[in-house]
Amino acid sequence: MPDVIGLGGSLRAASTSRAALQVALDGAAAGAATRLLWVRDLDLPLYTAEHSIPRSARELADTVYSCDAMIWSSPTYHGSISGSFKNALDWLILLAERDPPYLTNKPVGLVATAGGVQGLQAVNSMEFVVRALRGWSVPLVQPVAQSWQTFDPDGRLADDMIGAQLRELGAEVVRAARQFQAHGTCDYADAAQFGSAVGD
Ligand SMILES: Cc1cc2nc3c(=O)[nH]c(=O)nc-3n(C[C@H](O)[C@H](O)[C@H](O)COP(=O)(O)O)c2cc1C
Repeated sequence: MPDVIGLGGSLRAASTSRAALQVALDGAAAGAATRLLWVRDLDLPLYTAEHSIPRSARELADTVYSCDAMIWSSPTYHGSISGSFKNALDWLILLAERDPPYLTNKPVGLVATAGGVQGLQAVNSMEFVVRALRGWSVPLVQPVAQSWQTFDPDGRLADDMIGAQLRELGAEVVRAARQFQAHGTCDYADAAQFGSAVGD
């Protein structure tokens, strides 16, 4: 069974991007072991190479290295991803010298929440980073618009359709992870065999 790590959320207690991430992981949980890493809990200093590497960053890098797939979820800040989320990704430079490096052969599902309708810009920003880290972004993405009405004041998802789409994304990440485990690659030709959300 693949290990899927969810990474994201904001520093807000009622973070909607964290809540969306949890729903996507719920969709993955039928076929994978899942764990959510919320940036608020990670205790990561701002990245610099000029001090010793904090234990929190080493733990993050080791956890990511050993997983089979990821789901990322960031709030949309000024048309892109948030600083705290990007900082967590910057610490993944600790995987540069690993074998294989960075996110090689790991599929990554992408989620963003936005106050307006610019969530896709955050998703696209994340995709640049996935590529830089040698991962594979899953084509099915989920930008959640108008988070102030899609989530309740405590940050809980209040929209069944968005919930279904997030769970579908989680299931699709698991399908891709299973293909990588079996074949070392991923394409849509074998979608039926590996249980595709998009091929159904
Ligand atoms: C500094 C800042 C910048 C933001 N910039 C945008 C933006 O460019 N476009 C947008 O649609 N929403 C923007 N928002 C709204 C957030 O994307 C939205 O509230 C999001 O759901 C917050 O995620 P969170 O609940 O996980 O903190 C911004 C919010 C903040 C605090």
